[in-house]
Amino acid sequence: MQNLLVTGGCGFIGANFIRYLLEESDFRGRIINLDALTYAGNPLSLRDLEERLPKRYTFVKEDIRNREGVARILDTHAVDAICHFAAESHVDRSITRPDDFIQTNIIGTYNLLQLARERQQRISLFHHVSTDEVFGSLGDTGFFVETTPYQPNSPYSASKASSDHLVRAYHHTYGLPVTVSNCSNNYGPFQFPEKLIPLMILNALEGKALPVYGDGLNVRDWLFVRDHCTAVWAIMQRGKRGETYNVGGRNEMQNLAVVHAICDLLDEMAPALPGGKRRRELITYVKDRPGHDRRYAIDCGKIEQELGWQPAESFATGIRKTIRWYLDNSAWIQAVRSGDYQKWIKEQYGT
Ligand code: NAD
Ligand code: DAU
Repeated sequence: MQNLLVTGGCGFIGANFIRYLLEESDFRGRIINLDALTYAGNPLSLRDLEERLPKRYTFVKEDIRNREGVARILDTHAVDAICHFAAESHVDRSITRPDDFIQTNIIGTYNLLQLARERQQRISLFHHVSTDEVFGSLGDTGFFVETTPYQPNSPYSASKASSDHLVRAYHHTYGLPVTVSNCSNNYGPFQFPEKLIPLMILNALEGKALPVYGDGLNVRDWLFVRDHCTAVWAIMQRGKRGETYNVGGRNEMQNLAVVHAICDLLDEMAPALPGGKRRRELITYVKDRPGHDRRYAIDCGKIEQELGWQPAESFATGIRKTIRWYLDNSAWIQAVRSGDYQKWIKEQYGT
């Protein structure tokens, strides 16, 4: 892996992954970051790398729906491995507007697979980053394992399930060297403030309402984003081609417990709210998400046993680091929330 194409590298996990590879891991090659810069993509997250490591890091604005454009990038940069993060990733948006999810997550992945297949002599690995949501919803007990039947419930998870099946088919039919990871909920630096944790951090910081869906008792298995990055890299290096690996934090929590933890830490770490109001008082129960999956929980025994991977952070340590990061990075927050940000993208990248 000398010339690694990372798709979606300006998004939350992709940006953390590129930083991990270039700044912390034993990877010695070059990264080409292909990203369409949707509302969720933010080149600011990696701006310093463009300046500090110009020989090892290149950003290219392109859309995986545009097969010809992606083909040019694969050939210009002699790409020999692909790590595919690019996707529409927010469940609520997939419910109100599924089109982009079908086009990017399914057709975009198909384009990449087809292009990789046409360059199979050069491409040694296609790693596909997927989600535990493809397995559907659990009751009070049990865990998702790699062989759990797919039962996606939202347009987002159905589109990811579809892309997973295509990846599997390209391995089975054409012998494309692939690996797949199905990971639980990530949190950490650079997450767009539409997802539960960054939304709650910023609203609680500013004394705004904290919208908890339904009864707040849905369960997610939280993983600090750097632990997801180490897992993806372990799979890319040592994972068996054609295999899938579940990745999770063994950190099952009800949403309400997550929001309480954020409120209490912000009461401790940030300036007090007017009148000494405690942040838990901001919690507001709102209408439930349609088709809201009740519980996700990952059995990550396979990656632990076969690849020796372990998460480094507990929820207690990871959430403290995450809150610290949001408190210290107001310029990034302002940029992703402001209309100027879109203008800035136009000025920087021309579209
Ligand atoms: P994100 O929404 O923060 O980032 C997605 C990135 O993909 C953005 O930079 C966006 O500009 C880019 N993108 C979107 N459409 C594109 C297109 N058509 N062409 C090129 N680039 C495009 O997402 P994320 O949370 O970082 O998730 C990354 C991947 O990990 C996704 O595949 C997601 O399904 C998967 N995943 C996410 C989580 C999680 O908790 N966030 C958990 C498991 C798996
Ligand atoms: O499980 C992995 C998945 O985790 C990824 O594949 C997705 O890309 C990622 O977005 C995430 O999906 P979720 O729907 O679980 O994450 P979200 O942060 O949107 O919501 C987490 C939980 O919090 C969920 O039960 C819905 C609830 N929620 C969310 C928001 C945004 C609220 O109660 N209030 C909110 O405002």
